[in-house]
Amino acid sequence: MGTAQPRVLVPEGDIGRRIRELAATIERDYAGADEIVLLGVLRGAFIFLADLARALSIPRRIDFIALSSYENGSNYAGGVRLIMDSRINVTGRHVLIVEDILDSGRTLSYLMETFEARHPASLKCCVLVRKPTQEVQIEVDYLGFDIPDDWVVGYGLDFGDHYRALPYIGVVDPAEEEKPG
Ligand code: IMP
Ligand code: MG
Repeated sequence: MGTAQPRVLVPEGDIGRRIRELAATIERDYAGADEIVLLGVLRGAFIFLADLARALSIPRRIDFIALSSYENGSNYAGGVRLIMDSRINVTGRHVLIVEDILDSGRTLSYLMETFEARHPASLKCCVLVRKPTQEVQIEVDYLGFDIPDDWVVGYGLDFGDHYRALPYIGVVDPAEEEKPG
């Protein structure tokens, strides 16, 4: 696994351009804010967050959280749990959650709920790519790209922990590699 070359879906140059556009919009929206907290979701968002953070010039702090999916059973949170919390106390701060991908919507809705409960000054989300349909409806404040319902890799996104360091977003051919359970 991890040997086949994924087909290019979003080229490196397009990602860079889009991030500069997103950064310009974010800077405009937060012009009055003293500081924002960029909260990256490990591990998939690490490259996106690194590039977005450097494209911004407003005062910003960077923190990370990590999640795990429940193996079985369901709970109100939709099968997601926080396994590494933020180190910054977000109460009263402007928080921007930075996530790699919106698929079912469970992860992001769990995160929005969890961080809203901590009473930030504001809470928004920035997502690199969005698949066509969500089980849980969720508003994305800043979106990179809408993509088809394929398993995508690269630019932080993985397939069985492979391909994260690819500079572009690609699609793994399902004929060559089985989608992980
Ligand atoms: P959700 O279904 O919206 O909760 O997304 C759950 C998580 O699944 C995302 O944060 C990603 O880590 C992962 N994921 C979903 N679709 C893909 C994909 O196409 N490639 C890589 N990771 C994915
Ligand atoms: Mg993720």
